[in-house]
Amino acid sequence: MIFESASDVVLDDVFLRLPDFVPDVSVLLKLEGLNPAGSVKLKTAVALVDSAQAAGTLGPRARLIESSSGNLGIALSVVCAARGYPLTVVTDPNAARHAIRVMESLGTEVVEVSTRDAQGGYLRTRLDYVRRRTSAEPELVWLNQYANPANTGAHRERTAKALHRELGDIDALFVGAGTTGTLMGCVEYFAEHSPGTRIVAVDAVGSVTFGAPAAPRFIPGLGTSRRPEIYVDREAVEKVLVEETDTVAMCRMLAARYGLLVGGSTGTVLAAVQRLAPTFGSGWRVAAISPDMGDKYVDTIYSDTWVAERYTRIPDLAGLGHATAG
Ligand SMILES: Cc1ncc(COP(=O)(O)O)c(C=O)c1O
Repeated sequence: MIFESASDVVLDDVFLRLPDFVPDVSVLLKLEGLNPAGSVKLKTAVALVDSAQAAGTLGPRARLIESSSGNLGIALSVVCAARGYPLTVVTDPNAARHAIRVMESLGTEVVEVSTRDAQGGYLRTRLDYVRRRTSAEPELVWLNQYANPANTGAHRERTAKALHRELGDIDALFVGAGTTGTLMGCVEYFAEHSPGTRIVAVDAVGSVTFGAPAAPRFIPGLGTSRRPEIYVDREAVEKVLVEETDTVAMCRMLAARYGLLVGGSTGTVLAAVQRLAPTFGSGWRVAAISPDMGDKYVDTIYSDTWVAERYTRIPDLAGLGHATAG
């Protein structure tokens, strides 16, 4: 298979079965980390830049700016380098150091804000910074992943469509919520093409997207300190909040039992699958989206020191998911 650009290398048909994760249930993980940007956000980045180009907002001197905790910044760095647009990414202390180095290696200017906002996160501070820069520099275009319908569209037309094409009318689909682009794209697509599929939206405790109170969080990817404009609350969509300690425990269990090193949001989503497992029927087919792999997190989620400095108790999942030997 020959691709013409790094940003075209999207493998939307790769799933990993997790044997014995839930007894008598087929749990299939959609691996989104296997592309040159290393995450589901490559599709978001392509769609955001395509839509700005289609709207005619990117003139010859255009520069792009975006707020990102890491993965969208990396993905936009890939797309912007390939298309010749200078890029500034605004990030915060929760972003993985490795992610920042990757962006810089792709030629991106990275700015880190460090003041917490009123909700205890950094999102508002990051957005305030972007607004200041765009009002001072007219050639700077803000893609605004939190409000841009192209974000939802990317996942409706690619992620959700590919899921349904490959797996058909599954019984349940678990999707993490960050900007909620992946979630809303799946909600829209499945409502039309497989309305019987139960959609479960998963977020971190401390995120305000589903209306719960804000609290400090340390793991990037999921969660917001301000509800994204593209999020539409639908009663038919179940919502689950997961503690970061459960995320850490699940990530470590997946590494130990399945040889699968995933990012924090995958652990969060699979912790929700585990929590709702008693509500599944025998023989169900359940899918979950894994937004990225775990190599960026070896100094955080997979570091005993980092974990001990932040959390008091990590649940023991040793008995879960014994992959069959042989
Ligand atoms: C690792 C990871 N997981 C999940 C998400 C959430 O995806 P979305 O923004 O589409 O809600 C992101 C978004 O940046 C992410 O980086």
